Amino acid sequence: MSGSRKIYLGTNTKMYKNIRQTVDFVTRLETLTKDIPRDRLELFVIPSYTTLAAARKSVPETDILIGAQNMCWEDQGQFTGEISPLMLEEVGVNLVMIGHSERRHVFRENDAEENRKILAALKHGFVPLLCVGETGEEKEYGIAEEVIRTQLKVGFRGVPAEQAGKVMVAYEPVWAIGVNGKPASEDYAEKIHALIHRTLAEQFGREQGEKIPVLYGGSVNDGNAEKLIVMPHIDGLFIGRSAWDADHFNSIIRKVMPLFFQKSGTEGD
Ligand code: PGA
Repeated sequence: MSGSRKIYLGTNTKMYKNIRQTVDFVTRLETLTKDIPRDRLELFVIPSYTTLAAARKSVPETDILIGAQNMCWEDQGQFTGEISPLMLEEVGVNLVMIGHSERRHVFRENDAEENRKILAALKHGFVPLLCVGETGEEKEYGIAEEVIRTQLKVGFRGVPAEQAGKVMVAYEPVWAIGVNGKPASEDYAEKIHALIHRTLAEQFGREQGEKIPVLYGGSVNDGNAEKLIVMPHIDGLFIGRSAWDADHFNSIIRKVMPLFFQKSGTEGD
């Protein structure tokens, strides 16, 4: 959704940060970013399950959306070790991340499962954040575009066009994520983001498809955030390691916001 008036910036803290560390992090982040009008910025944090209740209580949801890292598609049942949408509702979670690369590749989740989770998240009023991205091997085989189109088409299967405005997408090439990751070049990311926007327009129709923000994630850092955010089809950044210190995250936010609004042709604050 190029031309967007809002930038999307968020972090997944993975299996790091206990309750106290998470509360300190979101509280500090809220203090540091309080002056930024939220009609310009959608800021979200996705911490581990055990910290969700405390995180949600410690900052207003108008300032920071709190998300879960995964969710079961069923409300209840014989699903040992899973977390139900009803349980997340009870905690007041706003967003649910679905299909993060580590869920797909370490825990072997597939597109059909991600689809059931997307539908359940929408049913319960959460914003689903669908993560897509090809592995290094798929990129080498030249099938990145096919893989990503499949992840989108199966992942959003059965989502009515009028609900498209409620979902978000993160493009996170598997080879770019984490300590061994190599960030995608801005040109490569732009090419895939344009493909994602085209596929979403195909799926939901142009008008509805354009409402879906597509964020880039995978080794975003101080050095590349500015280059990525100026690309026409990148609507935000989904950051791991470089955002886990609130002051550092805030400095990235301050750097990218004016560039994003220059690109969108609207003035930043
Ligand atoms: P990274 O993580 O920024 O540490 O590479 C990204 C992610 O897994 O979402």
